[in-house]
Amino acid sequence: MADDLDMLRADIEAAMAGAEDLRALDAVRVAALGKSGQVTALLKGLGALPPDERRARGAEVNVLKGEIERALENRRVMLEAFALDARLAAERLDVSLPPRPTPPAGPEAGSIHPISRTMEELIALFGAMGFAVAEGPDIEGDWHNFSALNIPDHHPARQDHDTFYLTAQEGGRRPVLRTHTSPVQIRTMLSQEPPIRVIVPGRTWRADHDATHSPMFHQVEGLVIGRDIHMGHLKGTLVDFLRAFFGIADLPVRFRASYFPFTEPSMEVDIGWSRKTGELGQGGDWLEILGSGMVHPKVLANAGIDPRMWQGFAFGMGIERITMLKHGIPDLRPFYEADLRWLRHYATSPLSPFTLHDAA
Ligand code: PHE
Repeated sequence: MADDLDMLRADIEAAMAGAEDLRALDAVRVAALGKSGQVTALLKGLGALPPDERRARGAEVNVLKGEIERALENRRVMLEAFALDARLAAERLDVSLPPRPTPPAGPEAGSIHPISRTMEELIALFGAMGFAVAEGPDIEGDWHNFSALNIPDHHPARQDHDTFYLTAQEGGRRPVLRTHTSPVQIRTMLSQEPPIRVIVPGRTWRADHDATHSPMFHQVEGLVIGRDIHMGHLKGTLVDFLRAFFGIADLPVRFRASYFPFTEPSMEVDIGWSRKTGELGQGGDWLEILGSGMVHPKVLANAGIDPRMWQGFAFGMGIERITMLKHGIPDLRPFYEADLRWLRHYATSPLSPFTLHDAA
C-alpha cells in the first residue's frame, strides 16, 4: 500500500485507540469517513487521476476504507462493553444495608387512622378464618337496603334506621344512603355461587348525631353460606373473633335472643365488662356489641339461593364501637375531626402493619 495511505491508517488507528467513549469514537469516524473526511476526500480525488493509476489507487483506498470500518466497529463494541461495566459498577445496590435508622417522624410521617387500623385487623383476623372481603355502594336502592332483607314497606325497622333519602328517578323509589352493610349480603349472594364466606367493612349512614352516634359511621358485615352451616359455626366464629380482636383469651361472650327481620333466629352478642371501670373481660356486667343470626330463608330466596339446599349465618357490628372499646376512646366525634393531637395519640404507625402475631 502507498506510504501516504499507511500513514493515514496509522493516524486514524491512533485516534481510535485514544477515543475513550462512543462520542469520541464517532468524531474519529466522521473525520475519516464522513462527508468531508480524509478517506472520503481520497475517494473523491480518484477522478482526477489518469485511468491506469486510478484503478490501482482506487483498490488501495477501498481496502483502507474497509479496514477502518472494521476497526471502528471493533472499537465500538469494546467501548459499549466498557460503558456497561461502568454502569453496573455505578448502579450497584447493597440490599444488605440496614434500613434508615430513624423513620420520618411527626406530621410528615403520616399515620393509620384507628378506623382503618380496625379494618386491617378485621380483614386479617377473618382472613385467617377463610373470609374474603366484599364491597358494595354507599348509595343503595330501596330493594337492596330494605325489601330484599325482608324489611317490607311500613315495617318499623324502616323508621328505626333514620334513613337519608335521595331524590327518586322518575317513577322509581328513592335511593338511600345505605343504613347498614347488610345490602351487601344480597349483592354477594346474587353475584357469587355458594358456598360463601365474606366480610364487608364499609361506610354506613343514619340521621343521628351525638357523642356515640355519627351520621356517617362504619360497620362490618359477615356472611357465611354453606350446605350445613349452623348456629355452632356462628357462635364459634364470633367467640374466636371477639377474643382475638380484644386480646382477651377468656373474654366472656353471651348470645341473647333478639329480632332482626333478615335473620331467624336472631341473637345479639354481649361481652363481659365492668360498667364502673370500663374494663373489658371482668366485672360481671354485659355490653351489647353486635347483631347476628341465621340468614332468613326469605332473604336467601330473595337473593336467588334455594333455602332448601343452603343455609348460613350473618352478623353486623359497628367499627367505631369496637374501636372505642378496644382503645378506651370515650367520644365518637373526634374520629372525624382530623384533630392532629387526637390522631397522634390514637393513630398507629404505617411502619407497623397489623399481623396475626398482634392478636391473642
Ligand atoms: N344490619 C344490622 C344492623 O345494622 C346488624 C345485623 C347484621 C344483624 C347481620 C344480624 C345480621 O343493626
